[in-house]
Amino acid sequence: MRCVRDIERKANLAPFQDQIKVPFMHHQNHIHPGFAQLGRLARWTITVSFAAMICVGLGSAAKAEDQTDFLKRLSGQLAGQSGQTVQEVAAASQSPFSDLSALGEALYFDPNLSANRTQACATCHEPSMAFRDPRIDIADGAFSLGDDGVSLGDRNAPMAAYAKFSPKFHVREDGVAVGGQFWDGRAADLAEQAGGPPLNRIEMGMPDKASVVSRLQEDEDYVAGFTALFGDDVWSDTDAAYGAMTRAIAAFEQEDEQFAPFDSKYDRFLRGDYKMTPQEELGRVLFFSQQFSNCNTCHMLKSSPTAEGETFTNYEFHNIGVPRNVATRSANNKDVDFTDNGLLDNPLINDPAYRGKYKTPSLRNVAVTGPYMHNGVFADLETVVRFYNKYNSRAKANQTNPETGKAWGVPEIEDTISLKELEQGDALDSKRIKAIVAFLKTLTDARYEPLLAD
Ligand code: HEC
Ligand code: HEC
Repeated sequence: MRCVRDIERKANLAPFQDQIKVPFMHHQNHIHPGFAQLGRLARWTITVSFAAMICVGLGSAAKAEDQTDFLKRLSGQLAGQSGQTVQEVAAASQSPFSDLSALGEALYFDPNLSANRTQACATCHEPSMAFRDPRIDIADGAFSLGDDGVSLGDRNAPMAAYAKFSPKFHVREDGVAVGGQFWDGRAADLAEQAGGPPLNRIEMGMPDKASVVSRLQEDEDYVAGFTALFGDDVWSDTDAAYGAMTRAIAAFEQEDEQFAPFDSKYDRFLRGDYKMTPQEELGRVLFFSQQFSNCNTCHMLKSSPTAEGETFTNYEFHNIGVPRNVATRSANNKDVDFTDNGLLDNPLINDPAYRGKYKTPSLRNVAVTGPYMHNGVFADLETVVRFYNKYNSRAKANQTNPETGKAWGVPEIEDTISLKELEQGDALDSKRIKAIVAFLKTLTDARYEPLLAD
């Protein structure tokens, strides 16, 4: 990989040298759909062999500009152009990584951060599958298998895309909890979140921070990269090195191109580049209507339904009465009586009035990120919309879960359900339910459109 990073570093210098922008290799590798659908190991192998080919091909041709000349030119005329300080650009020039985000990307795909070296962030948040866990054959896709090959979590892996828009976790003056990362908001932000999985016993399973830092030090590129980007001191303190790792991963997750492209049919529609079908348009109107549905009470951030950059969540926490996932739990020998306390698991919360509430998820890419809800209890998007309808329709047929043919299960926690919000709005007939589903499909990023089932 060393040679690839050398090339990347030169690519980074290229605009300064001759104003020709050379694309970074790492961006191409991980988002090309065909490529990304290969197994991860296969992908690493191909990346490495491709890199080797390039190294052979370019070998002597790529002659590095003399460091001192480069830095002189940089401080003279180029500082400010890229929004980086001279010191930052200088540091990056000595690093095998072009910047913090490039380091974060390497970490995001690195299985060496897990105990048995089998699992990276991307294992459970695969870029080619809308950053969710692609292993849908395991536990119906509801729960993620850990690095130990046996542990299953209790919650469905949310997509890591668009996660950066969640504000830091806080409780508003009116008592409403907002934001944070995880279903219960227990990590304030992306960097704090990224520190969790490596040490989580049932995820990447490393025993402690020091062991993770030793793994980082096994890789000479990380050693050089961390030193260049964070200074020599970064290795003298375990917390400093661990914190630097989490900040780099968070920087990668801030990349719009990969994590927040805002290029779905819906975004194209707002820009006048896509015409909604009549069914999608009906769904859109219903979704944003105050009268016919309640969806936008919780799944709308901006004040106007035609504002660009909508994330389809206001990041507030609610209990919408989701039943236990009994079927998947019993099929996988997990305790079927387990109760997830939701927001009450957040260390900043100790009032039982918050029990069973979850952060309202973004609906971007929702059509390709099933199964649904914090416990993956519903397989189909249409089931989710029918589930909401149980609150507003008294018709007997609407009190049945179409996936089981039985009554909707008893809510996991009953006394904190947001009934006021959920009972606002009309009953939806099948035509309207299908229209809302069609609208939700338009929230799929362009590169995931091929994943949409008919
Ligand atoms: C074994 C699977 C697994 C691995 C590995 C994993 N995650 Fe997750 N991730 C999950 C699950 C499950 C959740 C939800 C857990 C919860 O809410 O308690 C989650 C939650 C998240 C969230 C919160 C999203 C939101 O909307 O709240 C982000 C961001 C995230 N993971 C990024 C990462 C990063 C970065 C790494 C690597 C350092 C990583 N994950 C490793 C399974 C995994
Ligand atoms: C009271 C706030 C609220 C209202 C109203 C609401 N939602 Fe939700 N929505 C949530 C919360 C909270 C969750 C996650 C619940 C859980 O996992 O326990 C959720 C989950 C979902 C999911 C599953 C997402 C995923 O990734 O698993 C979909 C789809 C969805 N809502 C669509 C809708 C639609 C369509 C409407 C209108 C018919 C609607 N919601 C109304 C708060 C709300």
